[in-house]
Amino acid sequence: MESLFQAGRPVMGNKLIGREEILKEIIHYLNSGQSVVLIAPRRFGKTSVVLEVLNRFKKDDLFTAYVDIFAAPEKRIFAEQITEAVLSNKKLHKAFSDFRKSFSSLMHQMEFKQAVEDFEFILKFADKNQDELDLLSESIDFIEEFASKYKKQIICGFDEFGDIEKLNGGEIVKLFRAKIQLQQQTEYIFSGSLESVMERIFITSKSPFYRFARVIHIKEINPGIFIKYIRKEFEKIDIDIQKSALNILLGFTKGHPYYTQLICKQLEFKLVGTNKNKINDREIIDAIDEAYWSEINYIEKLWEELSGAREQVNILIAIAQGIPSLYNSLDLNKLNVSRALRKLRSKGLIKKEDKINVLVDPMLKYFIRKEIFKWDSPQSIS
Ligand SMILES: Nc1ncnc2c1ncn2[C@@H]1O[C@H](COP(=O)(O)OP(=O)(O)O)[C@@H](O)[C@H]1O
Ligand SMILES: [Mg+2]
Repeated sequence: MESLFQAGRPVMGNKLIGREEILKEIIHYLNSGQSVVLIAPRRFGKTSVVLEVLNRFKKDDLFTAYVDIFAAPEKRIFAEQITEAVLSNKKLHKAFSDFRKSFSSLMHQMEFKQAVEDFEFILKFADKNQDELDLLSESIDFIEEFASKYKKQIICGFDEFGDIEKLNGGEIVKLFRAKIQLQQQTEYIFSGSLESVMERIFITSKSPFYRFARVIHIKEINPGIFIKYIRKEFEKIDIDIQKSALNILLGFTKGHPYYTQLICKQLEFKLVGTNKNKINDREIIDAIDEAYWSEINYIEKLWEELSGAREQVNILIAIAQGIPSLYNSLDLNKLNVSRALRKLRSKGLIKKEDKINVLVDPMLKYFIRKEIFKWDSPQSIS
């Protein structure tokens, strides 16, 4: 049996919860010809939202294309992925990817040949000496041309667009900007988790995409909606999860989509096949701790990335400890505190909640409390 809870893979359809409003908003903008930018920290459900939006448009018989920039280490591959994603609307992507591997074998496939005849640039992929930026440029044009040929609108999802920086992104971003502006039948959703990069590309007045697209921040999932969903899922396997236990769980994750699912998945695995049919507080606390251990590499990596930035580390520790007034209680001058806070915010590690700074990642908070303060599990969770 497929497990009730998903942690890791993007979720769609009835597994995607608490995003109906945002989905409607995004679809509305795209329908009215505006592109959209989604910004959220890692594992907040950006990919899930992008894929769900594309799926809904596909059901309405529009063309769609999904490209994950994270998986495109160089411009040529990026260009190939765009082209392949566009061709998939006519089921030509497989033929294209075979064509890339061995140039000759597929030219006899009538349909693919037809597509190539209309869009000669595709042949250029067979030439290893082609200029990468040219290929990329033409692949962006191809999106619109392909849609035009079939008289369709096309919605393109560029996931982890902030990663464009690793492809020497400045020139690519400008290229995109220039082309996209002229396209009539193409709309875009860009998503990204590197807050600072996304801001540089889309939000600040100097950014190339300034005022070009609607910016939407994806937040945690509403805890009330999550609680209902979790209870319903566990009911499917006759497990009753106590109200206080659910409150501890959501009090800890605050509706962080990935961790909430991960902890539930942990519980599910533990209980299936046993004759236990109730989940109480203790079990939640244990499941959080187990989820923590399964994430330890990820958390340690986050922590390591901060080593060297002593002020930022000190501030994170103070926030995790729950110190209310950072400016007065830290042995740092005010300027340094505000600079470090700004940096932490732009990395998506902290945010303001009711005017106080909190950690975005509950497991990072748990890690600091457990490993630095040596608090026990219930205290670290609270
Ligand atoms: N709307 C949602 N409903 C339920 N679970 C979600 C939702 N969004 C994200 N998740 C959980 O978070 C995980 C990561 O989602 P993903 O879309 O890959 O995030 P991102 O692209 O922001 O890193 C999913 O595997 C799932 O466990
Ligand atoms: Mg993603």
